[in-house]
Amino acid sequence: MDKVISLCKRRGFIFQSSEIYGGLSNTWDYGPYGVELKNNVKRAWWQACVYERDNIFGIDAAILMHPKTWEASGHIQNFFDIKKDCLSCKRWFKETDLTDKNKCPECGAGLTEGKPFNLMFKTHQGPVEENANIVYLRPETAQGIFVNFLNILDSKHPKLPFGIAQIGKSFRNEITPGNFIFRTREFEQMEIEYFVRPQEADKALEDWIESRFNWYINLGIKKDNLRKRPHAKEELAHYSKACTDLEYNFPFGWSELEGIANRTDFDLKQHTQFSAKELTYFDDVTKERLYPYIIEPSGGVDRSILAFLANAYFEEKVRDATRVVLKLHKDLTPIKVAVLPLLKNRDEITALAKKITSDLKKHFVTVYDDTASIGKLYRRQDEVGTLYCVTVDVQSLEDKQITVRDRDTMLQERINIDRIKEYLQDKLS
Ligand code: GAP
Repeated sequence: MDKVISLCKRRGFIFQSSEIYGGLSNTWDYGPYGVELKNNVKRAWWQACVYERDNIFGIDAAILMHPKTWEASGHIQNFFDIKKDCLSCKRWFKETDLTDKNKCPECGAGLTEGKPFNLMFKTHQGPVEENANIVYLRPETAQGIFVNFLNILDSKHPKLPFGIAQIGKSFRNEITPGNFIFRTREFEQMEIEYFVRPQEADKALEDWIESRFNWYINLGIKKDNLRKRPHAKEELAHYSKACTDLEYNFPFGWSELEGIANRTDFDLKQHTQFSAKELTYFDDVTKERLYPYIIEPSGGVDRSILAFLANAYFEEKVRDATRVVLKLHKDLTPIKVAVLPLLKNRDEITALAKKITSDLKKHFVTVYDDTASIGKLYRRQDEVGTLYCVTVDVQSLEDKQITVRDRDTMLQERINIDRIKEYLQDKLS
């Protein structure tokens, strides 16, 4: 874990937020490579969950929502953890994290009684701070989907089963955030609310568990490090009838990556009651009006980034040196191609390398680098997971060929310059 964190900082994936002020604890900023990786994760999810299906509609709802949303959803009444404070060192703990419920794990002193602590961030809308203006930062993107259920019915006229998908920020005032980007107070979720006939819910849940499991495997997660863990009854959220977590074997142990739940008709019924708008589906063939059940695959963008990074981090012995390489899947890796001139003080070589770079940039995320020796340049690109390094040398000026090096095998191939685009397209498709 320390090695992954150190690489993230050193190479510009993830930085501590507001670092010049000493940092804001457990809050992180994505740097140049991090934002590419993050966008690629979200794109891969949208590709699989929206574009490759014909009954899922994307939305992007606001973070701030009408406060009644959170009464209807049950978050005001039920979304809390039990917090205990140490009587001596004053540290605080989430009760479920404590092995001995009455003893401080840090200093051994006694603990206060457990107190419920609501995890929603509260703020005020408008310039007056009074109770009437209280709004919450959403703790899940799901509610933005439920409140748009009728809009999707009216604008898209979908037939059951259908889904609504959204990627966006969520906020939880976690008592014990930690493990880098694993548990933070501000994070991003990728959620689908999939509406089905109640009698089809069990099968749809199984299908989504399979489909989401395979999404991670298809993006390179090792099968041995991913498992399905059905929830015991007492673990279920207040809205859920069944739930299976996909867990990843993180460097700190097996932990939740994504949850796939059967939310039943709880949310649609609750919002119907609180809004006085009927959130039902009318089947114009059977003339039946019903509350669909909802299957919800809900994953974290940041958590999956941590899993993809941990899964891709390798240290390999190459001759007498250690090569650090991020073997990220080709669809996720931030940079696809790096063009590296072998001699930086030969103008014809750098000019040719720059020309190749600008041609490739139109098709792939490509960078140019001539700021170090070739050995160092390769090492830099390996560390950030660049798939192909293209080197331009003296011979290239004569035979119009360049060398392409594969990140994983380190094998090199000589390719005609006018074939390079097709060559890479073939590899990257
Ligand atoms: N709408 C259902 C829901 O929000 P959840 O299990 O609480 O369910 C879903 O959250 C996913 O969101 C988790 O599996 C995790 O990937 C991500 N997530 C939840 N809390 C998080 C946090 N504090 N930091 C980072 N990711 C978090």
